[in-house]
Amino acid sequence: MRHLISVLDLSKEEVQQILKIAREIRDGKIPKLKGDVALLFFEPSTRTRVSFERSCREMGLRTYTVTASESSTVKGESFFDTLKTFEALGFRGVIFRVPFVFFPYEDTVRSLGTSLINAGDGTHQHPTQGITDLFTLIDRIGDLEGLKVLYVGDVAHSRVFRSGSPLLRMFGAEVGVSGPRTLIPKGVEALGVSRVFDDLDEGLEWADVVVWLRIQKERQREKLIPSEEGYFRQFGLTKERYAKIKRFFMHPGPVNREVDMEGDLVYSEKSLIYEQVRNGLFVRMAVLRWCLEDG
Ligand code: CP
Repeated sequence: MRHLISVLDLSKEEVQQILKIAREIRDGKIPKLKGDVALLFFEPSTRTRVSFERSCREMGLRTYTVTASESSTVKGESFFDTLKTFEALGFRGVIFRVPFVFFPYEDTVRSLGTSLINAGDGTHQHPTQGITDLFTLIDRIGDLEGLKVLYVGDVAHSRVFRSGSPLLRMFGAEVGVSGPRTLIPKGVEALGVSRVFDDLDEGLEWADVVVWLRIQKERQREKLIPSEEGYFRQFGLTKERYAKIKRFFMHPGPVNREVDMEGDLVYSEKSLIYEQVRNGLFVRMAVLRWCLEDG
């Protein structure tokens, strides 16, 4: 049994193992697993929740989904006691999405006899999205050594950035960021960022691939951008900026049209958005297999 809480716990060898399993699954080699898996989704989700549910079912695992309003956490039960309940019920795994940062987690993980898989915790980590984005870029580009990847937008609140960027660097890519200073964490260079662009158009000249991030309004205690229209003008993907993108652009979804990007660009030639969604299924199946079977 293994857990996946943060990509920072993974060695390159382990990431390569997960990518290899994901490729085998895409080629039709679906591993079979038995038992029960709980999906605790205490925050809204379309892609992650449905692809995890479908992954479990394709592999033979029974799924039980619990949302925040239906769980006994509303009656005061702690998250740890909720996890202990699933352990006592004999569940093999618990996949969780929560609005809070699950950190530190080492003691919790050590004391549980059920595998924990993070499907997004607050501003901290979204490891299966990070691995999906890595898988998608390697699939399209091959060797990432020297590739310049620019993250645009709400870097401060982005668990997608905190998961994707260390993995991309692990495979040789260089990472830059662009966005309003209110949405770029102070000392972002300590997170391995080599370039910060106040002017997105300069960032586009530098980058090979661009990852647009959603403005995480649900995590902002104060208004951090003057207006969505102004943000779109400065940092949104317009047709003019689309022409400047050298290779591809990505977005983890959900896209806020006319805030993150002009709506019809979602389906454009340089967009990898729906490839990310498709690959998310292979990666989540691979992570389940890696956590539940291969330990
Ligand atoms: N990218 C992502 O996590 O999407 P959902 O919130 O729809 O799962």
